[in-house]
Amino acid sequence: MRVGLEVDGKARTADDVEVGESLLFLLRERLGLPGSKNACEQGECGSCTVYLDDEAVCACLVAAGQADGRRVVTVAGLSGDDGLHPVQQAFLDAGAVQCGFCTPGLVVAVHDLLRRTPDPGDAEIREALAGNLCRCTGYEKIFDAVRAAAR
Ligand code: FES
Ligand code: FES
Repeated sequence: MRVGLEVDGKARTADDVEVGESLLFLLRERLGLPGSKNACEQGECGSCTVYLDDEAVCACLVAAGQADGRRVVTVAGLSGDDGLHPVQQAFLDAGAVQCGFCTPGLVVAVHDLLRRTPDPGDAEIREALAGNLCRCTGYEKIFDAVRAAAR
């Protein structure tokens, strides 16, 4: 099937998309957009988190066909002409990135948290990021980044 969607502000089309193929596969393998990471492909790690029509979702759990006619924003789409988004910058400044595999999904999840809760407490941060696993950082610097981005 043909799938047409908007990704990070650009119209994109992919042909011969298989039934059951994920949005994550479509983004990475068909459209060549590697920003969203594939760590588990089972909805367990959050590394593939993107916005689908303003809702943060795990792209590995969304069928590519479901994205037809819809708007996707990946971590790459959060930055603008004037540079990195404050959440992206906060991750850099806080040193909240080690291997970086979890980072794209975390940045989108933190962006989503802060637009809903601009000044979250630690419990709210913990709950919001519960679906995003990081095996490297111990989370403390990620929390620092969230607090800095919220300022
Ligand atoms: S790759 Fe989608 S949740 Fe892990
Ligand atoms: S920085 Fe490596 S998984 Fe988070």
